[in-house]
Amino acid sequence: MSILNYAPARHDEPPFLEALDRISTAAKRHGKFVGILVSDGVAAKKTAELYDIIAVGGDVKAISGWMGGHVKAAKAESLPSKRLDYEVLPLPKPDTMFELLARFDKDTDPRKVNLAPGAYRDDNGLIWLLPSVKAATAAIISLPTYEHQYLGIQGHVPFLRQAARLILGDVAVETGHIASLQTSGGTGACHTGAVFLKKFHDVGGDVDVFISNPSWENHHAVFQHADFVTRSYRCYNAKTRSLDFAGMKADVDTARRGSIFVLHVCAHNPTGCDPTDEQWDELSRIFKRKGLYAFLDCAYQGFATGDLVRDKYAVEAFLREGVDMVVAQSFSKIAGLYGERLGALHIPCRSEFAKVRVVEQLKAINRREVSVAPRFGADIMYHVLSDEALKSQWISEVKIMSDRLSDMRRRLVAELQRLNTSCNWEHITKQRGMFSYTGLTAEQSRYMTDECHAYMPPSGRLSVTGLTTSNVEYVARCMDHVVRHT
Ligand SMILES: Cc1ncc(COP(=O)(O)O)c(C=O)c1O
Repeated sequence: MSILNYAPARHDEPPFLEALDRISTAAKRHGKFVGILVSDGVAAKKTAELYDIIAVGGDVKAISGWMGGHVKAAKAESLPSKRLDYEVLPLPKPDTMFELLARFDKDTDPRKVNLAPGAYRDDNGLIWLLPSVKAATAAIISLPTYEHQYLGIQGHVPFLRQAARLILGDVAVETGHIASLQTSGGTGACHTGAVFLKKFHDVGGDVDVFISNPSWENHHAVFQHADFVTRSYRCYNAKTRSLDFAGMKADVDTARRGSIFVLHVCAHNPTGCDPTDEQWDELSRIFKRKGLYAFLDCAYQGFATGDLVRDKYAVEAFLREGVDMVVAQSFSKIAGLYGERLGALHIPCRSEFAKVRVVEQLKAINRREVSVAPRFGADIMYHVLSDEALKSQWISEVKIMSDRLSDMRRRLVAELQRLNTSCNWEHITKQRGMFSYTGLTAEQSRYMTDECHAYMPPSGRLSVTGLTTSNVEYVARCMDHVVRHT
């Protein structure tokens, strides 16, 4: 009974029998056969109901026929439990955002407004096919030699180098040792980054992952799926409707060494509240001092200020400080390449020797999970980023998107002020990027959705891209109405 760390004086001692019972029940629950060795036929008969297999130390031959029948019956009984019965599967929690959008699609009211889109829309409410991306796509398709061939396991390597330049800067790419992997969008980058860290950073199984409260609704799920325990850190002050820097700093400062913090590089989803450059500097110093790991998620580079370089300040600050980091980069919103699932994972390493190992491990994970990333989006974006004229055109298109978002914020606030709504709405213009935390309560957001057909999640998050010059007045009237009447 070494597994029990206990040697019974007699084989019929209750604690001993109870322990056996527990072991056999647990084993059976996991679909195992359980056997016992006894010394005679009487004991064998006694235990026949509890065990699948009974070996008798004495006269085996005399009872082998009897025992054979029992073993067969036990095996037959346990077989059905090994079958996966799909009908007993629990239903996972539905994705609230996708549910909301499905409701919006079904709504036939002519006033309906989608205030929750996750993809950038133009002033006509349409997904914008960026002209630079369109030109690159046309150029690629017209190549007589274009091949729909697999990429290598790491992905489109020249694209990855351009992507790394964009988010980490030219100097880091030229002089640093950046291990990169092409991923399935920003979600894929978060996932593979999480799997990599679980495997190689959380070897003791005691590393916590801290996620901003609130955050992109998928962050907890992605990290939990990689077997991490996730926790929250403060980032938003609901009273001032702005960044809770003191809370954020305190949570970072008290985290255990080695903890991972998922940080939004810019245009925080869902609050639109980012730290200033000075605050990023301060945070990066704390990360360095405390030995924390920065997981920098960047899905909206250029959307906060309209300037791709200014928006990557957080990455620069952490690089400068030499903080251990992973960067997850998405091209969905910033290039309008949603369906192509284009993303990249970058891990700055201290030497070329280390970089080779990191790249090979990332490739090994990728090969097991998806084999290789999709090709077409990487070809398109490589074409954009490697052609100077197309690249500057694309940079100006990112600014067009960011400017439209800022303009819509201003118009909405101007309308609300014109209506003399009792609240102060200035936070909407102070927040940046695609989202704004309006401060509407769950009840008010439900009213907006159910009664005004202006669809928004219970958090009161407004996807500013859902506003257009033709609906902004209506949305302001709805918001004015809900704050006056609820
Ligand atoms: C903060 C954040 N990270 C990652 C993603 C995922 O990006 P992708 O759509 O490229 O998978 C999103 C998308 O909404 C996001 O908001």
